[in-house]
Amino acid sequence: MSVRRGMRCRKCGAPAVINMPQHKLALCEEHYLEWVPARVGQTIKRFRMFRPEDKVLVAVSGGKDSLALWDILHRLGYAVEGLYIDLGIGGGYSAQSKEKVQAFAETRGGLPFRVVDVRETYGCSIPELAQRSRRGAKTCSLCGLVKRHIMNRIAYEGGFAAIATGHNLDDEAAVLMQNTLHWQAGYLGRQAPVLPSTHPHLARKVKPLCLMYEREMAAYSLVRGINYIYDECPYSVGAKTIFYKELLNQLEGRSPGAKLHFYLSFLKAKEEGTIRFMEEEEVQMQNCRRCGQPTTAGDLCAFCRLWERPEMAVCGPAEEFEA
Ligand code: AMP
Ligand code: FES
Ligand code: ZN
Ligand code: ZN
Repeated sequence: MSVRRGMRCRKCGAPAVINMPQHKLALCEEHYLEWVPARVGQTIKRFRMFRPEDKVLVAVSGGKDSLALWDILHRLGYAVEGLYIDLGIGGGYSAQSKEKVQAFAETRGGLPFRVVDVRETYGCSIPELAQRSRRGAKTCSLCGLVKRHIMNRIAYEGGFAAIATGHNLDDEAAVLMQNTLHWQAGYLGRQAPVLPSTHPHLARKVKPLCLMYEREMAAYSLVRGINYIYDECPYSVGAKTIFYKELLNQLEGRSPGAKLHFYLSFLKAKEEGTIRFMEEEEVQMQNCRRCGQPTTAGDLCAFCRLWERPEMAVCGPAEEFEA
């Protein structure tokens, strides 16, 4: 947090805990804790993410963004339930993440959440699954496929109106930059704060923190006393988006607000039709005979094929380009 000595809250004049040059705004603890949920609440309304009466599933990884999101949605009075997916990642990563989620829920009077343990439910952990792939599927890609499937399944079974994830502005801007540099029209066409449901088994996905800087979320977690896992997943080390985040931070340093402007201008240009991406082709979908989720390849979806024949698992580039 960059706080210069003597910096004062714009609302009350008390010492500021955060200075946000991107908004030309410095705030004290009390006013920052009001400002963050208000801004997230506006984002939810602006993009029509969900309504006050909707049941929302918050995907929580144990990291600062998703725990802060859970905290904020709860403070805003939404009917939220947490979902933690135990991927069985070693080195203490999954075990510690789960502890953070449990501790968070307990310290807030027992917030409701569910845990899906991948090994217990399907037979092996994500790293074990990747090891079994003879075609060298990347752990992160398999993990993304499994997480998406589980989130959709739980949302469908539990009758949730939407799944909220903790993607913040830095995540969105980094993916946008990567997709732009590669002119990934398909991914650019789909990148949005809300992904509507296109099938009864596919939940609506929303990103209420998409206009919040990562630094703002770190400050919020600190001030709210949220105890989160600092470590990144060991498989994400060296991920390309980390490099794009660094580039964007350099830009932001020179020109405060650049990240937000980059992302918002993209959304505006899409909305106004200034830039257009090819409509996705209508592809023939059928329901997977095992799980009911839609598939374009045969009668089993990619997730179910994965468990029937893990050695045949392949990895696509999708994870790198989708936030
Ligand atoms: P990541 O892809 O790790 O940056 O995570 C993006 C978002 O996905 C997080 O903010 C969470 O909302 C969700 N997520 C990631 N990992 C998990 C997990 N193990 N269980 C539940 N949700 C998760
Ligand atoms: Fe899935 Fe890292 S969180 S491989
Ligand atoms: Zn103040
Ligand atoms: Zn299936």
